[in-house]
Amino acid sequence: MKKRPGMRISLIVAMAENRVIGRGGSIPWKIPGEQKMFRRITLGHTLIMGRKTYEDIGRPLPDRLNIIISRRSDYQPAGCLVAGSLENALALCPPEETEAFIIGGGELFRESIRLADRIYLTVVPVSVPGDTFFPEIPDSFAVSASEHVTGSSPYVLKIYDRVRLGGEIDPCLKKIVTT
Ligand SMILES: NC(=O)c1ccc[n+]([C@@H]2O[C@H](COP(=O)([O-])OP(=O)(O)OC[C@H]3O[C@@H](n4cnc5c(N)ncnc54)[C@H](OP(=O)(O)O)[C@@H]3O)[C@@H](O)[C@H]2O)c1
Repeated sequence: MKKRPGMRISLIVAMAENRVIGRGGSIPWKIPGEQKMFRRITLGHTLIMGRKTYEDIGRPLPDRLNIIISRRSDYQPAGCLVAGSLENALALCPPEETEAFIIGGGELFRESIRLADRIYLTVVPVSVPGDTFFPEIPDSFAVSASEHVTGSSPYVLKIYDRVRLGGEIDPCLKKIVTT
């Protein structure tokens, strides 16, 4: 699959300590600060998601282009674009897009991790039963930033960037979590 120069492909996910990301079609925890952070990171950008994740969210997320991936030719939720494959979804991103976010779920993360330039990984300090998991992060990624967010619902945000030839990681180390 050909990648578009100038457009970063990022995965963004919240995962329990046992790698669970979903159970019974939804996310088995709620962390208000983490949701705000998701909004701040993704605002104004393109979101790409599997059909099941879209149905869990239930509506297009505002102020972002929502692209849903489905094999169903008749699937057309209002306010979203629909693509029949990951490749087609990436091709639907506007030419000026600088960062496309793949937001889940498990099936889509498994397919797209090989293409990702960056992973925004929130680790929620719980271990919960589930049926959907985040894949192991390949050795070709390295942590470029890490933030422990304290408070009533603590979590850790790690940013992984793909290691480039020569061993350099993407220099974007700016703090993105504000409490
Ligand atoms: N914790 C988190 O950060 C997070 C984030 C997102 C989702 N989740 C959770 O993850 C779970 C959903 O994940 P999931 O793995 O079951 O489903 P999913 O990845 O959200 O969606 C799977 C569906 O997407 C479509 N699809 C996937 N790959 C495709 C491809 N290459 N070509 C065409 N269509 C494709 C198919 O839709 P059709 O069946 O319509 O063809 C497939 O059934 C839920 O529990 C959700 O709450 C958690």
